[in-house]
Amino acid sequence: MSLPIVTKGLSKVYAEGSVEVTAVAGVDLEFREGEIVGLFGPSGSGKTTLLSILGCILRPTAGSISIYGQETSTMGEHELPAVRRQYISFIFQGFNLFPALTARENVLLALKLKGIIGEAADERADFFLGEVGLGHRLDFLPRDLSGGQKQRVAVARALASDAPIILADEPTGNLDQENGRNVMEIIRKLATDRRKCVVVATHDNRIEEVFDRTLIMEDGRIVTQRFKES
Ligand SMILES: Nc1ncnc2c1ncn2[C@@H]1O[C@H](COP(=O)(O)OP(=O)(O)O)[C@@H](O)[C@H]1O
Ligand SMILES: [Mg+2]
Repeated sequence: MSLPIVTKGLSKVYAEGSVEVTAVAGVDLEFREGEIVGLFGPSGSGKTTLLSILGCILRPTAGSISIYGQETSTMGEHELPAVRRQYISFIFQGFNLFPALTARENVLLALKLKGIIGEAADERADFFLGEVGLGHRLDFLPRDLSGGQKQRVAVARALASDAPIILADEPTGNLDQENGRNVMEIIRKLATDRRKCVVVATHDNRIEEVFDRTLIMEDGRIVTQRFKES
């Protein structure tokens, strides 16, 4: 059985005119099912770039990345969306909910994009919104939800679509400490129960204890790797 994500010598150089920025510089990593990994590092260290490559949104300039054994660095542009759809869900700092859609409709739309429709989709949306404690807010629009509630809708959306890999970029960045912790605990519980592979880019040290493994990134490199003592 292949691992969810394996990278070797992964690098990304942004070329802006004559200026080159090496955002990811030779990263070798493996991510497993059932683990929740924190990717720490200062602003500009390459976290978002690395996460975007892991999520097949961005292509590396060198090195390899495989998703469940499929080498994606050499895939054509037109092949990546299918990999993304099958394997990957994102959670963003800014929630990325559609403002005109209710909590339930936001989840349903994500399910539809993954080909899940009808009663099965309705049941799944309501189940996961219930799991994140929003069973009483199904028909609320994002503007009528707090920041923590909006992020919990995004968590329900990511989990409901059943992708095995969940990538989150600064998911607590717009939340206060209590809501941030709460959201991370929910991600951890739902994700570990379902054996997801979760990678969270963050510089929020307040949530460090939820991670099974912590990576620290500096100037595009992974400089430290720590496993939680158990
Ligand atoms: N689209 C882009 N074009 C050029 N440079 C970029 C682009 N995106 C990010 N960078 C640069 O790459 C480096 C890493 O950025 P980023 O991955 O956003 O780091 P982080 O998420 O850790 O803050 C930074 O120096 C940033 O300025
Ligand atoms: Mg970032």
